[in-house]
Amino acid sequence: MKLKNRVAIVTGSAEGIGKAIAVAFASEGAKVVIADINFDKARKTANEIGDSAFPVKVDVTKWDQVTNMIKKSVETFGRVDILVNNAGIVRKGWVKDLPEEVWDEVITTNLKGTFLCSKAVLSEMIKNNYGRIITISSIAGKQGEAAGSAYCSSKFGQIGFTQALALEVAKNNIIVNAICPGPIPTALGEYGIREDAKLRGQDPDEFRDWFISRTPFGVQGKPEQVAKMAVFVASDDCDFCTGSAFNCSGGIIMH
Ligand SMILES: NC(=O)c1ccc[n+]([C@@H]2O[C@H](COP(=O)([O-])OP(=O)(O)OC[C@H]3O[C@@H](n4cnc5c(N)ncnc54)[C@H](O)[C@@H]3O)[C@@H](O)[C@H]2O)c1
Repeated sequence: MKLKNRVAIVTGSAEGIGKAIAVAFASEGAKVVIADINFDKARKTANEIGDSAFPVKVDVTKWDQVTNMIKKSVETFGRVDILVNNAGIVRKGWVKDLPEEVWDEVITTNLKGTFLCSKAVLSEMIKNNYGRIITISSIAGKQGEAAGSAYCSSKFGQIGFTQALALEVAKNNIIVNAICPGPIPTALGEYGIREDAKLRGQDPDEFRDWFISRTPFGVQGKPEQVAKMAVFVASDDCDFCTGSAFNCSGGIIMH
């Protein structure tokens, strides 16, 4: 068991990649907080996992809700060892047409949410002289994508944030890394493909095939594949890596 007795908060873990991470953490012996804006789904996911999971409603863009998430996690499981900043949204649009509110929505959810959750958990981790903060960025955090300016900016920003925070808290034995998944067929992944296709006047299946053809493996990834990498990054096996942005992308990005 790679995470025996560790306590992890996974934001956006009601479904998709976050859910797969929560399931994998629990199977490695961790207690997991299923923290999501969609409480009904979070509760369902926590029930599926069992006694080692606890659901919390949180909007990661709201400081009071984020501090409440940390408080409830400590009350329930005694402490917090691991934070996974996974909650995220995608919106598509050409820059010349992109409404300011859409830009703000994406940057606030993905980037500010990562900042708020990390800021809120730090005092607990510093007190314990132990912590792992893992942020789920994207291949869009390493390579620009047309019609993805807000999403790419948020995902590049998460990598910059990861590096800056890693430098600040290494002395506190807190390790901070990012994971950059490639295309994964979740609600977010499929929404992004539909929007991309619509903007280009293409059929979604045609756009998906083109996107997938760029990966050397020629297939989409699975949430469980990202989860396996998250287990490694959260575990004590990953004790000499900080400020890294690990690709889990089927080779679509190699830097
Ligand atoms: N699916 C992909 O192809 C892909 C690729 C690279 C990176 N990612 C990243 O992985 C992460 C998870 O994405 P996914 O594909 O599993 O998406 P998903 O849509 O399946 O799940 C996202 C979860 O985040 C929750 N959420 C959204 N806004 C929130 C908020 N303000 N506060 C709390 N929870 C909120 C949703 O309710 C949902 O449960 C995201 O950060 C995404 O950018 C996804």
